[in-house]
Amino acid sequence: VLPPRSSARVDLQRYRELHRRSVEEPREFWGNIAKEFYWKTACPGPFLQYNFDVTKGKIFTEWMKGATTNICYNVLDRNVHEKKLGDKVAFYWEGNEPGETTKITYRELLVQVCQFSNVLRKQGIQKGDRVAIYMPMILELVVAMLACARLGALHSIVFAGFSAESLCERILDSSCCLLITTDAFYRGEKLVNLKELADESLEKCREKGFPVRCCIVVKHLGRAELGMNDSPSQSPPVKRPCPDVQICWNEGVDLWWHELMQQAGDECEPEWCDAEDPLFILYTSGSTGKPKGVVHTIGGYMLYVATTFKYVFDFHPEDVFWCTADIGWITGHSYVTYGPLANGATSVLFEGIPTYPDEGRLWSIVDKYKVTKFYTAPTAIRMLMKFGDDPVTKHSRASLQVLGTVGEPINPEAWLWYHRVVGSQRCPIVDTFWQTETGGHMLTPLPGATPMKPGSASFPFFGVAPAILNESGEELEGEAEGYLVFKQPWPGIMRTVYGNHTRFETTYFKKFPGYYVTGDGCRRDQDGYYWITGRIDDMLNVSGHLLSTAEVESALVEHEAVAEAAVVGHPHPVKGECLYCFVTLCDGHTFSPTLTEELKKQIREKIGPIATPDYIQNAPGLPKTRSGKIMRRVLRKIAQNDHDLGDTSTVADPSVINHLFSHRCLTTQ
Ligand code: WT7
Repeated sequence: VLPPRSSARVDLQRYRELHRRSVEEPREFWGNIAKEFYWKTACPGPFLQYNFDVTKGKIFTEWMKGATTNICYNVLDRNVHEKKLGDKVAFYWEGNEPGETTKITYRELLVQVCQFSNVLRKQGIQKGDRVAIYMPMILELVVAMLACARLGALHSIVFAGFSAESLCERILDSSCCLLITTDAFYRGEKLVNLKELADESLEKCREKGFPVRCCIVVKHLGRAELGMNDSPSQSPPVKRPCPDVQICWNEGVDLWWHELMQQAGDECEPEWCDAEDPLFILYTSGSTGKPKGVVHTIGGYMLYVATTFKYVFDFHPEDVFWCTADIGWITGHSYVTYGPLANGATSVLFEGIPTYPDEGRLWSIVDKYKVTKFYTAPTAIRMLMKFGDDPVTKHSRASLQVLGTVGEPINPEAWLWYHRVVGSQRCPIVDTFWQTETGGHMLTPLPGATPMKPGSASFPFFGVAPAILNESGEELEGEAEGYLVFKQPWPGIMRTVYGNHTRFETTYFKKFPGYYVTGDGCRRDQDGYYWITGRIDDMLNVSGHLLSTAEVESALVEHEAVAEAAVVGHPHPVKGECLYCFVTLCDGHTFSPTLTEELKKQIREKIGPIATPDYIQNAPGLPKTRSGKIMRRVLRKIAQNDHDLGDTSTVADPSVINHLFSHRCLTTQ
């Protein structure tokens, strides 16, 4: 247990008291917080209503139903007009190339959002419509999402690292009528021609009978040549010579962002929405293979991300906050855009990667903007650890006060390095456990209040009531290990799976009636600290991103040579987990390096580069139960050369096990 920071918003005793109140009297606790926001009309009925028990009927959660508000108004207009933060910097934008920077104040951001809202309105976008966004980490991405929110349209942001096929699947699932994208961008040295992927995706949508009527394109790489650096605060234009990116232009569908913006007015009345109207859809992997469109609603999400941001990062107005996550993931939605803006914070928005142009990039940015609170993923920490202390220690980092991590369990070695080297032993670390589904932090230390244990997400946030259940669904007290569940709703909980409420109920509420089931295993120690032990379903966590074994398997079997595939997670020093695939080939096909290359390419095209396997093993047979179920538990052990297989009496043909052991992949391919 390491000593906490001295000056903080709350101490341990106050945390305990506030936590108890928040769980016992959630209506009063969140009701007080709601008073800090703008409501066009007050909540007419009960502040909270819910049912978590499938045996008692439909699962639902409603916070402040009937109250009306607008989240964009709350995070921009209110900050500019009421709180007089118009001249405060909302974002320092740092491009992929060092020296390529801009900044935007709250007032400027509000103007751009109003303009773009008018653009969308002119394109016919209305409350309830779905808008797909496929963009790199540029300011227009924030503008686009807030403009949707201003109109009450749902944004569905698809991470720019996903494939054309994944984008198409997501556009179709929520029938998005408009796509916002970008010409191209660099990730380190790599050029990504995003428009080409977007075109391919829209072509696929058309083939499937769903023509997206409009595609708005930000000219990002071509910006300098356009003379678009018009804001007085903007620094020298893009340094990298503009590459010759070939863009296809689809007349009648494609429109340039900058041309539309020139004609747009800079005032736009927000659409007043019900607190329980949907705010956005964000897809997350599901164990059946088909991604789930997680739906968050306006009022509860707003309260929750604002409050978690304020307490978990111990926010103070002079802070410079930096969350390195891409906005295409929930971490970016909640802690790049909505949480910081709701608090009137100044943040860094970074387009690049930690190793370009060198391994000290993050720390040079920390020094450049005097970042006070820094939030990243264990995989990034482990990757940087490999380069030793020098790239870190040659930068001052004196501004840093709090460090955060998210996405997967952090191994104590990485935690200690983060604390000792990056934080110079001065900064508390907040290891935040949460999910796309939870909207915001669930288990986390509070800086300066919670004595830390490396590798433990420690205690529940306000309003969160965790429990650990055994296989028969009994709550375990004291020291225990089992299923991590939550007993009552917090404002940021997802409300449904888009277009499939039954799937929402089955995935999260069916196994243990009365509880929200996270899908994670968890241990509670003698001091009441929670330790996440990892997923207990068929999900893999690669570099902090969830993938389902089923989605990778289905990408593999779509290849003509593959009859059957089984994918398991395998320990990896940087990614946490990587993919180890077993493939059974169809008659007449032979296993070869060319085939493994083709299979990898197939997965990249179907899902995206994050799903690229590290190992693909030829498996003439797979261990199965007599009923034909693939035994992934056994395959995991084979991949690790662990002969302690436990009970294998149910394996239909034990001889396949020895064969697989003797043909293990010894190196990555
Ligand atoms: C899963 C959720 C929430 C943003 C990033 C991932 C794992 C997340 C931690 C942590 C241990 C963690 C869990 C969870 N996870 N944070 N601090 N310690 N595990 O969002 O893609 O929805 O994944 O990530 O397994 O269920 P996501």
